[in-house]
Amino acid sequence: SPTPIIAPSILSADFAALGKACSDTMSQGADWLHIDIMDGHFVPNMTFGAPVVTMIRPHVEKPSSAFGRGTFDCHMMIAEPHRWVKEFKKAGCDLYCFHYEAALQSTAADSPSGQTEEKTSPAKLIRFIHEQGLRAGIAVKPKTPVDVLYPILDSENKEEVPDMVLVMTVEPGFGGQSFMADMMPKVKELREKYPEMNIEVDGGLSKKTIDQAADAGANVIVAGSAVFGAKDPSEVITKLREAVEK
Ligand code: DX5
Ligand code: ZN
Repeated sequence: SPTPIIAPSILSADFAALGKACSDTMSQGADWLHIDIMDGHFVPNMTFGAPVVTMIRPHVEKPSSAFGRGTFDCHMMIAEPHRWVKEFKKAGCDLYCFHYEAALQSTAADSPSGQTEEKTSPAKLIRFIHEQGLRAGIAVKPKTPVDVLYPILDSENKEEVPDMVLVMTVEPGFGGQSFMADMMPKVKELREKYPEMNIEVDGGLSKKTIDQAADAGANVIVAGSAVFGAKDPSEVITKLREAVEK
């Protein structure tokens, strides 16, 4: 499978000193920054929007290649995800990961093209994200089965195929929840079907739970409280990476 990527979630960082928290976690060995955007509507919690991403961007060097070190992995836990693509591109986002469930509920009235007759769909949104020069990720909540993604992943239109799938291993909304091991069959099934795809897991990942995720085939590992709550964050990042490498 593709290279291991460790993406600390800044949800558990000190928001009053966010720039330094971001540059520190990068020098402690992080590959990407996982940036949780919550709107208090799609999930029962709020974080921040594009202005904060703009402010932290200068603290982390832009990636020199697709999926490279310094990638801003924006996890959009928001309704109407198509409305914020341009804004986040401008703010310095590299990978725009929206929720399948949110895209399904978006209305045609404000579709990416602005044409009322065009239906917003995950595929159309992925195309739109790519047109803006971003990588596209698609996330599924615990109750969403992965097979809904197969028609999207198997599309003949390469511009409408996502670059990453995020399998949530907690209900989105809060850091520090317990890892849902029962999500691993989803990861396993995806890995068997798509050996080269980036598969991200998010929620409850730690030194204790990483082996289950790694064995199932996840290669992009998000960890919030396990990294930012650690006495020695670089040791945690190293351990997570080693578990995926082996
Ligand atoms: C949860 C967020 C996660 C969260 C993970 O809704 O999407 O990224 O920060 O936090 P931990 O690693 O503490 O479970
Ligand atoms: Zn997240």
